[in-house]
Amino acid sequence: MQEIEADRGRFRLTRRAVLRTGAAALASGTGFARAQAAARPIPVGSAAEIGAFRNDARYREALKRYCDVVVPMNDLKWDALRHERARFDFAGADEAVAFAEANGKALRGHTLLWGEALPPWVKEMTTRAEAERELVNHIEVVVDRYKGRIATWDVVNEVIKYDPTSGGPWRDTIWQRLLGPEHVEIAFRTAGRTDPKARLVLNDFHFEEAEPGAAARRQVALDICRRLKDKGIPVHGIGMQAHLYAEKNIDTEGLQRFMRDLDALGLDVEVTELDVIDWKMPADAALRDKRSAALVATFLEAVVSAKRPKAIVTWGLTDRYSWVGETFPRKDSAKARPLPLDADYRAKPMLAVLERYRRGTA
Ligand code: XIL
Repeated sequence: MQEIEADRGRFRLTRRAVLRTGAAALASGTGFARAQAAARPIPVGSAAEIGAFRNDARYREALKRYCDVVVPMNDLKWDALRHERARFDFAGADEAVAFAEANGKALRGHTLLWGEALPPWVKEMTTRAEAERELVNHIEVVVDRYKGRIATWDVVNEVIKYDPTSGGPWRDTIWQRLLGPEHVEIAFRTAGRTDPKARLVLNDFHFEEAEPGAAARRQVALDICRRLKDKGIPVHGIGMQAHLYAEKNIDTEGLQRFMRDLDALGLDVEVTELDVIDWKMPADAALRDKRSAALVATFLEAVVSAKRPKAIVTWGLTDRYSWVGETFPRKDSAKARPLPLDADYRAKPMLAVLERYRRGTA
């Protein structure tokens, strides 16, 4: 669309283009509100893995070119920051944050509380008082360091049980064991107190599948946020990780209902870790890429048709570096192809889908 103006790496629709899109939508019978909502650009970005970031200039160039938002992939996790109990190591996080700032990228912080990626000493804690003291101190120090710079925090990550219908709803973590459900309240309250302007998000996975477990997880996420709000504890949105399984279908209706429920609670949504797990797909690369792009398009369309996400973030940019191959190994020797760029930084069909949202032409 010619009216799109480049603006420091972001894109803005001119008024004329918006009006024309609306008029076309009216003429074609599509809802005007829907067309307007979809026609606004959505910030798109990626998690950045520090090893690739340091060693691969092409990786840094790709981050500059394709991202409005950058997320340190592992460097804000406890095992990176708190390897030693007595001191914080901000080396990796500072590097990623400085890069984002120098290149005009927004930042998401991942994550202040998780049951994984913990240094051994955390798992050895035994008392409630100790857990609370460490959690509060950690969040105060980390959020304060990046106050006004990291605009959005995944305050809690994966606190919902995988299938909450069987003995749920909380995931069994050291935080849940020592603090009970209050661990979530403590985390949000402390983050909000430390940086009152930050956007605070509950981040979790397995919301989009057409399975009873996913519906139950959506309900639990809503309930947690409603309870926080009832208690006056700040929470601003839900992050959907969206690690999509290529062999599964998207529950479009379920997602749309979820978006409406979030809206009714005054919550935002964002897509935080998008990629495609293609372990059960045939090896043929073109076929896999086509399926992945279609799946991502279906997922994003389901979300955006009901609610505009604050951001769409993929969990990495290039198939060269991704957790998917290791975590979801294939039976053959083919490499995983979960991301928008291939292992040689060539654009895949998934990238075109994302760029449409980024430009506001989806
Ligand atoms: C993964 C990283 O991508 C890997 O590099 C790391 O070894 C393990 O963690 N859900 C999350 C992310 O919230 O933090 C995980 O990231 C992927 C699953």
